[in-house]
Amino acid sequence: MFSRCVLRAAVETPYRQGTFSIQASASKLRAASLRPTAAVSEGRRFISVYGYTQAKALVYSNYGEPKDVLSLHKHSISPPHGTQVTLRLLAAPLNPADINQIQGVYPSKPPFTSTLGTAEPSAVGGNEGAFEVVSTGSGVKNLTKGDWVIMKHTGQGTWRTHAQLDESQLIKIEDKEGLTPLQVGTVSVNPVTAYRMMKDFCDWDWMRTGEEWMIQNGANSGVGRAAIQLGKEWGIKTLNVVRERKTPEETEALKKDLYELGATAVVTEADLLSGSFRDIVKEHTRNGKEPIRLALNCVGGKSATALAKALAPGSHMVTYGAMSKQPVALPSGLLIFKNLVFDGFWVSKWGDKNPGQKEETIKDVLRMTRAGRFKDIPVDEFKWKWDTEESQIREAVQGTLGGFRSGKGVLVFEGDE
Ligand SMILES: NC(=O)c1ccc[n+]([C@@H]2O[C@H](COP(=O)([O-])OP(=O)(O)OC[C@H]3O[C@@H](n4cnc5c(N)ncnc54)[C@H](OP(=O)(O)O)[C@@H]3O)[C@@H](O)[C@H]2O)c1
Repeated sequence: MFSRCVLRAAVETPYRQGTFSIQASASKLRAASLRPTAAVSEGRRFISVYGYTQAKALVYSNYGEPKDVLSLHKHSISPPHGTQVTLRLLAAPLNPADINQIQGVYPSKPPFTSTLGTAEPSAVGGNEGAFEVVSTGSGVKNLTKGDWVIMKHTGQGTWRTHAQLDESQLIKIEDKEGLTPLQVGTVSVNPVTAYRMMKDFCDWDWMRTGEEWMIQNGANSGVGRAAIQLGKEWGIKTLNVVRERKTPEETEALKKDLYELGATAVVTEADLLSGSFRDIVKEHTRNGKEPIRLALNCVGGKSATALAKALAPGSHMVTYGAMSKQPVALPSGLLIFKNLVFDGFWVSKWGDKNPGQKEETIKDVLRMTRAGRFKDIPVDEFKWKWDTEESQIREAVQGTLGGFRSGKGVLVFEGDE
């Protein structure tokens, strides 16, 4: 019988070997737990002569602040069999939702399991990332060593040096030439969110291409930057709101950055909340002749109310984030007299319901990326080496939710197979 104690023995012995593949037979595991491994050189990962892959994963067993609850767990992955695929991390972003998930305040919570042999049931952090195929089971049909993949669903845990998943859980990146791990590792959440909100919540009048507007707050976020570029690609003008930086020069530099991406107009949150915002809008929209037909809200509070007030009658405001942690308050007149529609969007749920469309959306964004029409987000790379200390990675993760960042935190694994 395949028992838990066999698994535990395999994990705890000093000669431990793979336990991740729980389908492995008990006898195989028992034998594996007794075999010696290849030598471990100082600070380096090793691959056993029996094909077991040594891996590390950033896991949590309780909810709380990442610095308090994350730990680096070392384990082994058995050689893939059947339709299993063993993967090596290339790059995985640290998105705000990942942190909220660890804090326990995000609606989707990956189940805590003992699959990786942690002392307590745990989940692996992270929801998106680019991985390279290291080896495949004999039943794998469409993937080979060296291919790049992303995970089909969120909640699978991407903050790990290696992983083993079934082929059916992976999306292959066709034609990876011309793409970087960062581009592939950050395509499935933010660009897809921007793309779907802009396509699915407004019936754009394509006869008026270049005459209709979208307004958004958090415009320098990953989603905001994607929306600016999609607007440019599709002929939708964008009115973008950012928060002021410490100095006027820094604010101007941020605005310039967004103009270079294709923003039509960039204003500050102070402009948005000021009494003169109506005039600012009129100035940009030929005195209101060019309607603002969609608002994307990732902030909430007063910022959201002000976005809504700028909308043309019958338009939609889509809320997809709550960075200010303030509720969205709506003057009744906007509902009664302007017939505005307020929606929410959650890419995880949407992707699970529309897997085919999600893949098509990813392909389209990567097509634009290859063509140089979809630029990289600014990032703050954290190089994850085999001997990187747990505390360093925890700190990098903890810093993600702080505002006014110069770039999104991204884990880049710099280890061998
Ligand atoms: N619903 C969905 O499906 C979905 C999908 C993707 C993302 N999201 C959400 O969208 C939001 C942005 O995600 P991202 O990955 O694009 O973010 P990101 O690249 O990490 O950027 C964070 C953004 O939030 C802004 N921000 C941070 N604290 C703020 C505050 N207190 N008030 C106002 N703005 C604040 C930042 O502005 P500063 O630079 O001025 O600090 C920045 O623009 C998050 O809430 C995330 O959870 C939702």
